[in-house]
Amino acid sequence: METKIQEIRKNIILELKSAENLQDIEKIKTNILGRKGELTLLLRQLGSLSSEERPKLGKLLHQHKKEIELILQKKMIEMGKTEKEKKLKEEGIDISLPGKIFDRGTMHPINLILKEIEDVFLGLGFKIEEGPEIELDYYNFEALNIPKDHPARDDQDSFFVNNEVLLRTHTSPVEIRVMEKQQPPIRIIATGKCYRRDSTDSTHSPMFHQIEGLAVDKNITFGDLKGVLTVFVQRIFGKDRKVRFRPGFFPFTEPSAEVDVSCLLCKGRGCRSCGYTGWLEIMGAGVTDPAVFNMVGYDPEIYSGFAFGMGAERIAMLKYGISDIRLFFENDLRFLKQF
Ligand code: DAH
Repeated sequence: METKIQEIRKNIILELKSAENLQDIEKIKTNILGRKGELTLLLRQLGSLSSEERPKLGKLLHQHKKEIELILQKKMIEMGKTEKEKKLKEEGIDISLPGKIFDRGTMHPINLILKEIEDVFLGLGFKIEEGPEIELDYYNFEALNIPKDHPARDDQDSFFVNNEVLLRTHTSPVEIRVMEKQQPPIRIIATGKCYRRDSTDSTHSPMFHQIEGLAVDKNITFGDLKGVLTVFVQRIFGKDRKVRFRPGFFPFTEPSAEVDVSCLLCKGRGCRSCGYTGWLEIMGAGVTDPAVFNMVGYDPEIYSGFAFGMGAERIAMLKYGISDIRLFFENDLRFLKQF
């Protein structure tokens, strides 16, 4: 038995020398220590030895087993390292090579202006709300005090889906939806796409974006509206911009106003861009009509409010000096990359 074990050890050393990878070593290990391995078989034979020989040889065999296990373990660790280094060398990354350059996107100017405007109103304590682009006639017109035969419907040529459903022509229906589910005080803005059956030219597009605002509480006045919109205009267009409120008409506000900003180009002196008036119209606004409050079940004797609505494209065109609305929707990278 002793000679046999010496032989096994010698063989291991030889075989390990020619082992090329971890699998080779595993195989050697199984051949010796596996269920039918050489050493395992020797250990099994211990049982048939005399009670004098058994302890002596048993001790010897177990010692050899331990040593063999150590040898194998050491070799496996070494081999593991070598294999890893080899792999690293093969898969090596040359960090001196120039990298792939990824195209970096930019914000679309409309998203950019929407975000800027939202930030201004968030800072003034307004919350952001949303409404559906496919809207009921009731919310788009009826509840905004524009009944079926009202001439104001003509101003907003609509895409109707059926008699009661249309693509919203403005963001004002969100006002109604918010008031239906909340009680005052309310301070919200809503942004999103709107649709009108306009033919396309440099200032009209069948799809465009609006920003709507609504504030309802006790004692809200036209003065609050002026204050909020003046802050808005000066944040978006610059501190030295002036704001003007002209009388206007909207069925859902009374009184109503058209809001102008002093011309950005001529600073109010008058130029071609402002039609020599010194002013540019930027939105509609007003004090919420009591008829609207009645539609949503608010008591107009207790509450008052103001609202405003503006076109995102128009604001962006004025702010960034863009002369044609179609540029926003043509996806020309030369244009989009400037933002
Ligand atoms: N909805 C109007 C439009 O699209 C704009 C507007 C005017 C909104 C006055 C308002 C408002 O909230 O008070 O032309």
